[in-house]
This record gives sequence, C-alpha cells and structure tokens, in this order.
Amino acid sequence: MRMYDLIMKKRNGGTLSDEEIDFMVAGYTDGSIPDYQMSAMMMAVYFQGMHADETLRLTLAMAKSGDMLDLSRIHGIKVDKHSTGGVGDKTSLALIPMAAACGIPIAKMSGRGLGHTGGTIDKLESFTGFCTDLPTDVFVSNVNTIGVALMGQTAQLAPADKKLYALRDVSATVDNMSLIASSIMSKKLAAGADAIVLDVKTGSGAFMKKEEDAFALAKEMVQIGNNAGRRMYAVISDMDQPLGRAVGNALEVKEAIATLRGEGPADFTQLCLALGTYMLMAGGRADTPKEAQDMLRRVIANGSALDKLAQFVKAQGGDPKEAYEPQRLPKASMTEEICAKTEGFVTAVACDEIGMCSLMLGGGRETKESVIDLSVGLELYRKKGDYVKKGEPLALLHGNDKEKMKAAAARFLAAYTIGASAPKEAPLIKGVIQGSE
Ligand code: URA
Repeated sequence: MRMYDLIMKKRNGGTLSDEEIDFMVAGYTDGSIPDYQMSAMMMAVYFQGMHADETLRLTLAMAKSGDMLDLSRIHGIKVDKHSTGGVGDKTSLALIPMAAACGIPIAKMSGRGLGHTGGTIDKLESFTGFCTDLPTDVFVSNVNTIGVALMGQTAQLAPADKKLYALRDVSATVDNMSLIASSIMSKKLAAGADAIVLDVKTGSGAFMKKEEDAFALAKEMVQIGNNAGRRMYAVISDMDQPLGRAVGNALEVKEAIATLRGEGPADFTQLCLALGTYMLMAGGRADTPKEAQDMLRRVIANGSALDKLAQFVKAQGGDPKEAYEPQRLPKASMTEEICAKTEGFVTAVACDEIGMCSLMLGGGRETKESVIDLSVGLELYRKKGDYVKKGEPLALLHGNDKEKMKAAAARFLAAYTIGASAPKEAPLIKGVIQGSE
C-alpha cells in the first residue's frame, strides 16, 4: 500500500477502506508516513469529507494507537464527560463531585490548557499540593474507595491523534466535522469509560459557531460512541458569552465551590444540573431526568457534593480545607473595576476578547512552556441582557502585574457591546441527543 495512492483516492472523492485507514494511522504514528503526505490527506478529507464508516475506523485506529485504559477493576458503570471547550468552562470542577456524590464512579483523564485559561488540571492545581500524576493502581483504588480520581492525559493516550491534531492545527484542517469528532472520540474511547456525556458548545466562543453544526458534530460523536459500544448523550449548550461569571483558574475553582454550596451563577448551575442528569441516567443511577435532578439538588443541599470535592482533593495530595474555605486559594495582589462608558443593555459579551484579557493577565498559556498564574482573571458583573448605567462596573480584573492589568483593562471594553434594546433571550441548553444503546 502507498500513501500516495490513498491521498489520490480521497482527493478524487473515494472512500478509504478499513485497511487503508489502519495503514495510514499506523504509518503516521511510527513516522513512516511524513507530515507532508498526511497534511495533503487532511486537506483532501477537508474538501471531500468522510463517510460514517471511515470516521469510525479513523477514531478506532487513533484510539488504539497507544494505551487503552482498562477500567475493568472499577466497580459500576464508569461515566466520562467531555466539553468541546469555551471561556469560563469550569464544569468538570463542579460536576465531578456532584456525580460522584450520587454514586457514579468517576475515573477521568484530563488535559492542561493552551489558550486563555488552563485546563481542568491546571485549575485543580489551585489546591495546594494537588497532584494528577497518579500511578494507575492508585487511580483505580481511589475510584473504588472514594468514587473519584483524575489523572493527567499521558502521551501514550491516542498518540496518533496528538500528532495529527498538531498537524491539522498548522495546516488549516482543524475545522472539519469528521476530523474533530474522531479526534475527540479517539481520546474518550482510549480513556476507558462505559458511557460518555458530551457538552457540545455553540456560539461565538465555540468551535461550532452555528447551532446546526454543533448538532451535526454532536450526532456524529454520539454515533461513533454507540458504534464503539458506549452509552452516549450529548448536550448542545450556549457559548455565545462566557459561562458563569469567573474566568481564570483559581477564580473558576471558587465559582465551582460556590456552585457546590448552591450559591453558583444560574447559567453555570443549570448546565451542571443538565450534564449531571445525563451522567446519572447513563450510569444507571436514575431513570428519568426529574429523578436525576432531584438527586443532584439533594447532594448540593446536604453538603455531600462539597464533601466529595474535599475528599477528592485530599486523596490527590491537596489541602481539603481549601474546599471549605476558598479564600485560602490563590489570590491576586491587585484588583480593578472596569466601568461602562455608556448606559444600556449588554447585547453581547465576546468570548474571545474576555479570553484574551485572561491570557494577558497571565492566566493562560501562549506556548506549552508558559507558566500559568493561577490567581489572575476576571469576574464578570454583567452578562448579556443586563442593564448597566454609565460608570457602573462591568467586571473586576484580578492581576499581579501593573502593566498586564493596564493592557487587559484597555482590551476589556472591546468585549462588551451595549445597546438601547435588550437582546433576544437565548436558551442555555439548545438540545440533547441521546444515543441508541
Ligand atoms: N478538540 C480535539 O480534541 N480535537 C479537535 O479536533 C478539536 C477539538
């Protein structure tokens, strides 16, 4: 088999066979197929698309290109959750303890972030001593004893996807539905859960700007998961403005803790309850959404979700006191209110500008080597639809460096659009796709 022939076949609109896809993924992973041929193939796929069977085979080949986590020693139905990402998306921080407190075994692999804030692991490292570098034995035994464990995504998890995603990133081939679906699902399948709940974002701050594209991506991923024998749900949710009010690592942890106390922002709480509902249903803990919501509300009201977070932090070397006393978490040395220059309704809050402010304050990574400042970020006082008078605060910036604060403050106002009339209300949850079992 020759890669040249496969590129030509795809370029001309052909369908790659299972053997051809396996050959291509194996060859690219071991280096025998060079970047230039693979990037030509990715461009051919970009224009010609892939059939569902090709997408499934690509996903499976990438999932099997490295370690497949064996979670069979963990009792019960393991449910994983994945978000396609956005600004202020700290959902895992609240959802993991909520679902675990309801009896869902959580064995999760997460990554660090490259961009406006850190990933889930960076955020969790706001807890003093928190460690995600767990040997598999400890990971498994923590899930069996306290119901939850989280570890960093290793380089051996779907290495083909790691290499291919980096290539797509520099060859303008990221935004193809089948390639995104197979990339995300290859890592999820390799991570070993029995059921997966996806949070597919749509809006200005999401990969999928258009709702119909988000639905199509969700359907594609649900189909891949089902075909690979996983129980699947996908929630399509709004990312036209940042989620919740906090953007920045420790600030997001504090907001997640507030949510576990029942004092979180309405949108963030609603999303956690929705995703939690499908985690409980996928994990066989609840038969109906109502039953699941009641269980989730109960673990918030009786404090067991917050206790679960404290147990989780302690089991991974962190200081559990910080879960109960979040004022102990990293705190920036300076704050500055940014006030509205005009009066009116907030009609838009641009996710990318808010993300950029967080990055400028030091809360994200510009390169893989960048060191994140966990304490910095923004608290948004006003969101879409709110009315603001001239001179009233829109947000509070948290920073440690005067120059960075000045630059972020100057940039911040570009994120807000203020107009004379209220914007149309947009639902946070756009829809749910349930896979067939
Ligand atoms: N996230 C991924 O992991 N892969 C993609 O292709 C896009 C988003």
